[in-house]
Amino acid sequence: MTPYPALLDPLLAQLPGATFGTFAPGRVNLIGEHTDYSGLPVLPFAIQLGVAIAGAPRPDDAVLVQNRDGARFPPETISLRELVHRPARGCWVDYVVAGLRLHPPEQGCELLVAGDLPIASGLSSSAALVCAAALLFAPPRFDRLALAERARLAEQYVGTLSGGMDQAASLLGQQGQALCIHFRPLRVELVPVPEHLAIVVADSGVRAEKGGAAQQAYNERVQQCALAASAMGALPGGLLADVPGGQRSARARRLPDPVLAARASFVFAEAERVAEAVAALRTGDLARLGALLDRSHAGLTDDYQVGHPAVDRLVRAAKSAGALGARIVGAGFGGCCIALCRAANASTVAAALQRAGAVAAFPVRPAAGARQFSSGRASS
Ligand code: GLA
Repeated sequence: MTPYPALLDPLLAQLPGATFGTFAPGRVNLIGEHTDYSGLPVLPFAIQLGVAIAGAPRPDDAVLVQNRDGARFPPETISLRELVHRPARGCWVDYVVAGLRLHPPEQGCELLVAGDLPIASGLSSSAALVCAAALLFAPPRFDRLALAERARLAEQYVGTLSGGMDQAASLLGQQGQALCIHFRPLRVELVPVPEHLAIVVADSGVRAEKGGAAQQAYNERVQQCALAASAMGALPGGLLADVPGGQRSARARRLPDPVLAARASFVFAEAERVAEAVAALRTGDLARLGALLDRSHAGLTDDYQVGHPAVDRLVRAAKSAGALGARIVGAGFGGCCIALCRAANASTVAAALQRAGAVAAFPVRPAAGARQFSSGRASS
């Protein structure tokens, strides 16, 4: 039974005439960072935090988008006609529009949004917002895989060349399961996460806004991977997943351009770590899983250059407190880290992370994917 997200109740109560709503979770990624846009696998899971939207029909053709935190996220009114043509403005409403375009409303409506994910911190708050908006007017039995594909493209409207992991994790999440996601075609293999394994998230408080420099640095890496792919024999415009042959990481190291060599060798090594992490989870080899996270963090910092000193500090603190492994999570450039530990040690690790300067440290468990509600209860 899917737990009812408490986030939605106050919204339904606050919005006069509210009859429907959605909730879409954020995600953490165990491993497989910056591999998705090269067509290589990832291993995330949806978490219990996310974005909720309550909706009320209106008799006219206006779509009023409001946020419970109106001072930080100002409201906007868009006509149904405008919805299709509205250019992205670099504001939070862009993500709502990106989602609504996938399943547009047929009449005007008033929407009220709230979220409990730290924003711009690697937990996929933007994809959660897109997915929550996309579900508002989706039919009750929608095709989750197909919508995940379309939601990836929808987010590119805001200018991020993102690879599809976040939208797939938010829409396809399952309680207790990590999702080994393969791309082209999108496919998910469920990998149970044992109860005695705890995953603690710690937020450095350093924001990596998708509308700012972090977006540019992210898109630059997408382009570098595409260039490395062609230099390694993929067709022009191809992905690293198309590069033929074995020993791809070693071959990538020999690319003449040192930046492309570093980027591509990291991506191939990280994709191998995903396969190893799936095996480690299946056999309950937590020590091996932890070591893989550590190697991922080192590669993200040195070869991929998406690290941040504030997150490094947290990673070190988690390890000193006995975490099996820890690493920066999501796109990077700040944000959160995850620390893997035995359940019995989770509160010690969380306390150490707080002492080391984390603005929040909390455990997460794999949770169910995005869902719709009508008159206050789950319908899908
Ligand atoms: C962001 C993107 C994802 C993925 C991660 C890095 O979250 O939206 O598609 O590329 O960064 O793994």
